[in-house]
Amino acid sequence: MLEKCLAGQWRISELDWDREPPAMSRQKEEEVVQYFTDMAGIERIAAALFEEQAARATDPRLRAIFKTFVDDELRHARAAELLAEHYNVNEYRIYRQSETLHHFAYHFINALRHLSPEVATVYVTVGELLLDVALLRSIDGFVDDAMSSEVMTRINRDESRHIAIDFYMTEYYSSEEYQKELAKAPKRPLREELAAWYAFGQTMRHARPFLKAIFLDPMAEIDPHGERILEAFSRYQNLIERPNIRKRPLPATILRTQALASFGPTAKIAQRYAALVGLPVQMLDPSLIKKPSKRSRAQSARTEAKPA
Ligand SMILES: [Fe+2]
Ligand SMILES: [Fe+2]
Repeated sequence: MLEKCLAGQWRISELDWDREPPAMSRQKEEEVVQYFTDMAGIERIAAALFEEQAARATDPRLRAIFKTFVDDELRHARAAELLAEHYNVNEYRIYRQSETLHHFAYHFINALRHLSPEVATVYVTVGELLLDVALLRSIDGFVDDAMSSEVMTRINRDESRHIAIDFYMTEYYSSEEYQKELAKAPKRPLREELAAWYAFGQTMRHARPFLKAIFLDPMAEIDPHGERILEAFSRYQNLIERPNIRKRPLPATILRTQALASFGPTAKIAQRYAALVGLPVQMLDPSLIKKPSKRSRAQSARTEAKPA
């Protein structure tokens, strides 16, 4: 994998940035530039996360892999900034990253230092699937231009390596070998336990406005049928249904809530519970608990049934 990560590095200067951007309405130009401006911020958060993972990794190869991910995410951030500049033809206004992004990033990165590596990996994996894959692909579809597509193709290649390692880490933390090791570790002192809960609470408090501004509002415009979001959750579903993983507390909670949601009399309870623990409502989509082979069929039927 490390060889793959090193071989997969690319340079922003490989691309031809001198081409003419397509004509766009004022509204579209403003949206596109704002999306890429915020995307740069998201990519920098991702870089900080992998920096943290690299610092924690005890295996030197894994640490080296995470370091290449930091480089990838910083390159994605730079590419997003250049794309924002590229499409900012008329300079209608000054674009700034959403304030919510900075508040969230600060608390999220702090919380990750306190969370167990297993739980931290859940957030990193879901975050990557939603923000680094679903959101980016939707933005690219919305921009519909070769410059953006060429950048996104390269970013997606990097992202598939990140997701592969996120999945690998999830498997590892769910393994009996890791659980045995964990059982031997001394219990955390109360003060640290409280600090962890405080950091987690602060993250959740800032997650809502952040997700609304950076993810939900743009996605309502560029992925109106929620196809990309469901696609991302399907990939996560494939992961948490794996034998070892499904027994772990967080995946087990998700699977149990989904089962309750799919059963008429308990559906309301499941929805309330999901809102309470911060499970996105899309994760309760009935198509997700179908067998993987039937899942995508059920999802496309579901989105096709909706008016365009
Ligand atoms: Fe990225
Ligand atoms: Fe990534």
